[in-house]
Amino acid sequence: MESQTIARRLLPPLPARATAAAAPRTAFSPQRFRPTSTGGGGARLPPLVASAVTTQREAGATYIVATPLARVSVDSLQYESGVLGAITERTRPAAGEERPNGALTPMEYLTNVLSSRVYDVAIESPLQLAPKLSERLGVNLWLKREDLQPVFSFKLRGAYNMMVKLSRKQLDKGVICSSAGNHAQGVALAAQKLHCDAVIVMPVTTPEIKWRSVERLGATVVLKGDSYDEAQTYAKQRAEQEGHTFIHPFDHPDVITGQGTIGMEIVRQLTGPLHAIFVPVGGGGLIAGIAAYVKRVCPEVKIIGVEPSDANAMALSLHHGQRIMLEHVGGFADGVAVKVVGEETFRLCRELVDGVVLVSRDSICASIKDMFEEKRSILEPAGALSLAGAEAYCKYYGLKGTNVVAITSGANMNFDRLRLVTELADVGRKREAVLATILPEERGSFKTFCKLVGSMNITEFKYRYDSRREDALVLYRQVRCSFDIRSRKTISSVGLHTDTELGAMVNRMKSAQLRTINLTNDDLAKDHLRYFMGGRSNVQDELLCRFIFPERPGALMKFLDAFSPRWNISLFHYRAQGETGANVLVGIQVPKEDMQEFKHRAQDLGYEYTYEMTDESYRLLMQ
Ligand SMILES: Cc1ncc(COP(=O)(O)O)c(C=O)c1O
Repeated sequence: MESQTIARRLLPPLPARATAAAAPRTAFSPQRFRPTSTGGGGARLPPLVASAVTTQREAGATYIVATPLARVSVDSLQYESGVLGAITERTRPAAGEERPNGALTPMEYLTNVLSSRVYDVAIESPLQLAPKLSERLGVNLWLKREDLQPVFSFKLRGAYNMMVKLSRKQLDKGVICSSAGNHAQGVALAAQKLHCDAVIVMPVTTPEIKWRSVERLGATVVLKGDSYDEAQTYAKQRAEQEGHTFIHPFDHPDVITGQGTIGMEIVRQLTGPLHAIFVPVGGGGLIAGIAAYVKRVCPEVKIIGVEPSDANAMALSLHHGQRIMLEHVGGFADGVAVKVVGEETFRLCRELVDGVVLVSRDSICASIKDMFEEKRSILEPAGALSLAGAEAYCKYYGLKGTNVVAITSGANMNFDRLRLVTELADVGRKREAVLATILPEERGSFKTFCKLVGSMNITEFKYRYDSRREDALVLYRQVRCSFDIRSRKTISSVGLHTDTELGAMVNRMKSAQLRTINLTNDDLAKDHLRYFMGGRSNVQDELLCRFIFPERPGALMKFLDAFSPRWNISLFHYRAQGETGANVLVGIQVPKEDMQEFKHRAQDLGYEYTYEMTDESYRLLMQ
């Protein structure tokens, strides 16, 4: 069991945020960028002490001691979208570092992929050109359509490849796994094919639509635990007690090999030279499998991982040269919301992967829209991740004329999430900006403001008179370009033109003494604060926190029992976004002297939370 206190004590302060903002963007050369202050560019990395396993000798015997993984924040490694990052001087294994006992050799991975039996259940998915995206980016962008698999994701490849190797006796004892998503369906389908029982343990918070679809495949669903970790602990215990085989979602050589068949197909399907394959990364099974095959047969092809910037466990592990545990993980792309990557997957990735591109939630939404416009298919967020990464990378390095492949890995979209996707897609493609402007509360100021906006289209506008104030706040969303962004003639100038246009408008506002703030990249403002327009007030001792509520009956009452009536709840906002945990913004009036008690109560409650009072948008919109 990992222990937070020990890990914290062991950890030195982590390196400052990496940024590539200063890197020039003319010619293509991924090696040009080095995250500042985090090593790789000459500066030495401070050691990250906690590690997974060490050996100790005592009284003549050798003990294996598992030390907790270092816990780090997603913010400790951020770099500009599109940059090929995460590889540092510590990433690659030291020369002569031995392969762990029992681990497959590179040749074994290769031959196992070649002889894999995934085609009993999986299709050889098509590799399709995306003509519109290719034209926009100036490259040949190929889509490896794993979203077209029988259970709408690649996960059945790995699950089946592991299960088909079990003996009849093992199969007769049944298999078990824990998953709230695509792995569950893969295991259930594989079990159906192999005529064995499958128990799928899912957190009690799993939406009915998901567990019902697994049940429909003939598996036994057990709802257990509030989180994925709790479900997994239970599944492993039950596997031991009842003799079931535990089917890991990513960290097993047979699972990795099964996913590796995708790499084999790409190499076979694409005849010309290939620059890079972009792979979404959760626990790392998919990228490890693809890299294990492709790097052996075409070492010049780059294998590039793509992670959401708030779920960057692989980037951080590669960066530190050891597996880390994320303190919090963003749940939007739930298929890749993993706090710790696998041991075997990490071993392969640190040797074979060329780097990781980080992308924002907004750009994932934009890629879901792109895919819809391209093929009329709807990808789930994790399924569109590689597209977002490929686009950001091609733009950042100015790639032209080459072949790149993005793995569209899944289409199990929670329908409720589409609302958020459609709202953010244009922001993600930088076609829309979210802005706030402070106007004097006097006659005619709104008209002045509209004149200053000029020809730019406004898609949403919010203003509310506040009698107590001398200034008024308007919040608006603005379409940044009124012409067709995809038109070939304007393609090269669009970014510059729209940025200039937006900048010019902000400057016009400024010279008219109207302060304008760009909130386009502020998730707090987009998710919550914009719904509170007109609600500004100076509430005493207000503590603003974002809590992740488990989505189950009683979660709100449990929360209220923890804090109310002890303190006053001054603000509460929740909007369903189809995520596994509900993202709730809460204001609570907690005097300074009660802070310790608040922290204890929050810890006992057990919901993840973060403070938001320092956010500029909070001060602007709410105070
Ligand atoms: C749709 C989708 N894409 C990508 C991934 C990431 O795969 P891995 O955990 O092997 O890195 C998953 C994992 O379940 C997934 O469901």
